[in-house]
Order: sequence, then C-alpha cells, then structure tokens
Amino acid sequence: MNIRILLVTCVALLCFLGVCQGGNLRKKFYQDSCPQAEDIIKNKTQQHVSANPDLPAKLLRMHFHDCFVRGCDGSVLLNSTANNTAEKDAIPNLTLAGFDVIDDIKSAVEAKCPKTVSCADILTLATRDAVSVQFNKPMWEVLTGRRDCTVSKSSEALANIPAPFFNFTQLKQSFASKGLTLHDLVVLSGAHTIGIGHCNAFSSRLYNFTGKGDQDPSLNSTYAAFLKTKCQSLSDTTTTVEMDPGSSKTFDNDYYPNLLQKKGLFQSDAALLTQDQSAGIAAELVDEAKFFTEFAQSMKRLGAIEVLTGSAGEIRNKCSVVNS
Ligand code: HEM
Ligand SMILES: *[C@@H]1O[C@H](CO)[C@@H](O)[C@H](O)[C@H]1NC(C)=O
Ligand SMILES: *[C@@H]1O[C@H](CO)[C@@H](O)[C@H](O)[C@H]1NC(C)=O
Ligand SMILES: *[C@@H]1O[C@H](CO)[C@@H](O)[C@H](O)[C@H]1NC(C)=O
Ligand SMILES: *[C@@H]1O[C@H](CO)[C@@H](O)[C@H](O)[C@H]1NC(C)=O
Ligand SMILES: *[C@@H]1O[C@H](CO)[C@@H](O)[C@H](O)[C@H]1NC(C)=O
Ligand SMILES: *[C@@H]1O[C@H](CO)[C@@H](O)[C@H](O)[C@H]1NC(C)=O
Ligand SMILES: *[C@@H]1O[C@H](CO)[C@@H](O)[C@H](O)[C@H]1NC(C)=O
Repeated sequence: MNIRILLVTCVALLCFLGVCQGGNLRKKFYQDSCPQAEDIIKNKTQQHVSANPDLPAKLLRMHFHDCFVRGCDGSVLLNSTANNTAEKDAIPNLTLAGFDVIDDIKSAVEAKCPKTVSCADILTLATRDAVSVQFNKPMWEVLTGRRDCTVSKSSEALANIPAPFFNFTQLKQSFASKGLTLHDLVVLSGAHTIGIGHCNAFSSRLYNFTGKGDQDPSLNSTYAAFLKTKCQSLSDTTTTVEMDPGSSKTFDNDYYPNLLQKKGLFQSDAALLTQDQSAGIAAELVDEAKFFTEFAQSMKRLGAIEVLTGSAGEIRNKCSVVNS
C-alpha cells in the first residue's frame, strides 16, 4: 500500500473514532480562495443588524438549530421541495427567521467569489458578527471550512431540537448526543438573554402545569402574575414576551440572575436549577466576564458539531436550494 493512502486511511479512521471532530476546521479557511469573505459577511451583517435589532437573536437560534440537526451544515437553510418537507417547516421552527438575510449575504459573497464560501460558514460567521455588533469586537472565534449538506428533513428537526418542556435528564441527554457537556448546556442556555418566546412555549406553566389548572411551583409567582397579563390563555399562540425582561435585545448575562430568581421562561430553563451541579454552574455565570469567556468556548464547540469538511457535501450556489 502506498504511504499516502495509508496516511489518509489512518486519518479517516481517527475521524471515524471521533478524534478529529471539528478538527478539520481552521482559522481563515478562505484566506487564499476569497480573502474578503469574512469582511463582506461582517459588513453585510452589521448593515442588517442596524436595520433590525432582533436579528442577533434570530441568527443565534438558527445557528443552534442548524448545528443540532445533522451538524452545522446549512441544513436549516434549505427550502422544502415537492418531495421533501425540510427542517424549516418542522414544528420546532416556530419563528425561525433571518433566512432572507443569509441569502442576501450569500449573494454578496458569490458576487466576489463564486462557488467558494459555504452557507454553513456564512451562517456561523454571521451569527458571531450579529451578536458582536453591540460590542464592536468579535465575541468568539469562528473556525471555517464547513461544507453544505444536501439533505434537510423536518422529522430530524423534531427528533433533535430540545423542546421547551424538557426536564434536566432530557436536556443533558440531548446535548450529550451532540458531544456537548453539562457545562455547555448551562452556558449556551444563556443565549436566552436575547430574543423572545411565544406564549404557547410556556403557558402551561401558568395555567395547567399538571393538568389540574395549576401553576408551575418552580416559577416565580410575581413573574408568573406578570406573564399572565401577557399570555391570557392556553390557546394564545401569537403573543410573544421578552425572555430577558427589559434587556431582550442586549447580549448580557442577565439570564443567570433571572434564572436564580426563578424567572427562567421555559421549563427547560428552570430545569437547570433542579440539579446541584448545573445550578452551581448557573450561579458562577452571574459573573459576566466569566459568562462571556465560557460562552465563547461553548459556541466554538457548538459550531464544530458533525461538520462536513474536505470534499464532503458541496458549496451551495444558493443557501435555500441544493445545487442541481
Ligand atoms: C437547552 C435547550 C433549549 C431549548 C429547549 C430552547 C427552546 C427555545 C424556545 C422554545 C424558544 C422560543 C421560540 C419562540 O417561541 O419563538 C427559544 C428561543 C431562542 N433560543 Fe433557545 N432553546 C434552547 C437552547 C438554545 C441554545 C443552545 C441557543 C443558542 C446558543 C438558543 C438560542 C435561542 C435564541 C437566541 C432565542 C430567541 C429567538 C427569537 O428571538 O426569535 N437556545 N429557545
Ligand atoms: C467593510 O466595511 C469597512 C468599513 O465600512 C470598509 O472599509 C471595507 O472596505 C468593507 N469591506 C468589504 C470587503 O466590504
Ligand atoms: C426559498 O423559500 C423562500 C421563502 O418561501 C423564498 O423567498 C426563496 O426564494 C426560496 N428559495 C429559492 C431558491 O427558491
Ligand atoms: C420527486 O420524486 C420523483 C420520483 O421519485 C422524482 O422523479 C423527482 O425528480 C423528484 N423531484 C424533486 C423536486 O426532487
Ligand atoms: C414553519 O413550519 C410551518 C409548517 O409547520 C410553516 O407553515 C412555516 O412557514 C414555517 N416557518 C418558517 C419560518 O419557515
Ligand atoms: C424526564 O422526562 C422523562 C421522559 O418524559 C422521564 O422518563 C423522566 O422520568 C423525567 N426525569 C425526571 C428527573 O423528571
Ligand atoms: C388541563 O390539562 C388537562 C389534562 O391534560 C386537560 O384535561 C384540560 O382540558 C386542560 N385544561 C385546559 C383549560 O386546557
Ligand atoms: C421573585 O421575583 C421577585 C422580583 O420580581 C424577587 O424579589 C423575588 O426574590 C423572587 N422570588 C424568588 C423565590 O426568587
């Protein structure tokens, strides 16, 4: 056997064993093939954020959903076709938004460097850049070199996206299945410092927690009374509330002091307090500098989940359809 083939086989075997998960991503993957790529993405993202302050939350959630369903491969961006219902059209897609922004950034990148930069990398970079606008500096490092998949199935979104009613065991299991730790779970839940939630994602906590017309005892009763003024019945599926009341457009660490006052909006937030280790991590993250440092590290791990690299997958021409 030729030495090169032997080497490639060994690397492939190591990858198969999980040794190189995300290991094929690197800094500035497009430095030679499209040196302006990261700047174009940053500039375009900043323009969109100044027009729409809700965008950082939209992209952050979209990136999470992309990575949790068959890896960070742009699967969340694909449209349904005559034959296939895509992730976008699955139940947990509720209020996913920002697809038009990704398409616009992709067009700008294609105009400079056709068929070079993946949609998966664009979403990952744009998410970082959108959250970072407020700080005027990149809040975490993004490695690049992801490629795009050709498959997107609504059933996989249902099976892989954790639900707002998940308990601690289910959340821990969901994150572990993506190679993420309990620490990552508590840190990444801090993303709920920005954005909104629809009433129906939590209103059973207000009106019918155990099926007896009762309220969730783990929810702060002052906060519950406030939420009831917003979400007036179990059938309200359209009203939204800020997840971090008063600063839902500011990326900060308010999530943790709120959580410790039993003001986590979803059962999945409250669940983090039901176990000593995760409650302890949440208490440590009340230190904002610590939260930012930890969030940067956990986002890198999120962005490396089951990525396609090398010659796997493709570089899509348009983010919402596979190449023909
Ligand atoms: C731990 C398990 C998680 C559960 C069960 C969960 C669940 C949810 C739900 C139900 C919503 C509200 C959607 C709506 O009603 O429109 C939401 C919003 C959001 N989630 Fe999560 N999430 C989780 C983890 C994450 C992670 C890891 C991130 C990112 C790192 C994230 C980022 C967001 C953001 C930014 C929003 C606001 C979206 C908007 O404003 O439209 N979530 N999440
Ligand atoms: C990005 O914006 C900066 C500042 O406005 C500008 O100097 C730079 O040329 C832009 N870069 C690209 C690639 O668009
Ligand atoms: C994908 O769907 C969106 C929303 O329906 C639409 O605006 C977009 O043009 C579609 N993409 C393509 C390539 O048809
Ligand atoms: C849908 O499936 C049929 C039969 O399997 C195939 O001929 C057709 O090309 C598919 N259409 C699309 C849009 O994938
Ligand atoms: C979410 O899925 C529903 C169908 O379940 C669909 O009608 C809706 O357009 C989808 N939303 C987005 C943002 O794609
Ligand atoms: C969490 O939910 C699962 C599935 O419903 C259930 O089997 C398990 O007992 C629950 N665990 C706890 C600690 O409540
Ligand atoms: C509360 O939950 C119980 C049990 O699931 C159900 O029978 C009842 O109809 C619910 N009440 C309302 C107002 O939806
Ligand atoms: C509930 O929230 C109020 C303020 O809104 C706070 O003063 C109180 O300490 C919280 N209760 C608990 C149990 O944390």
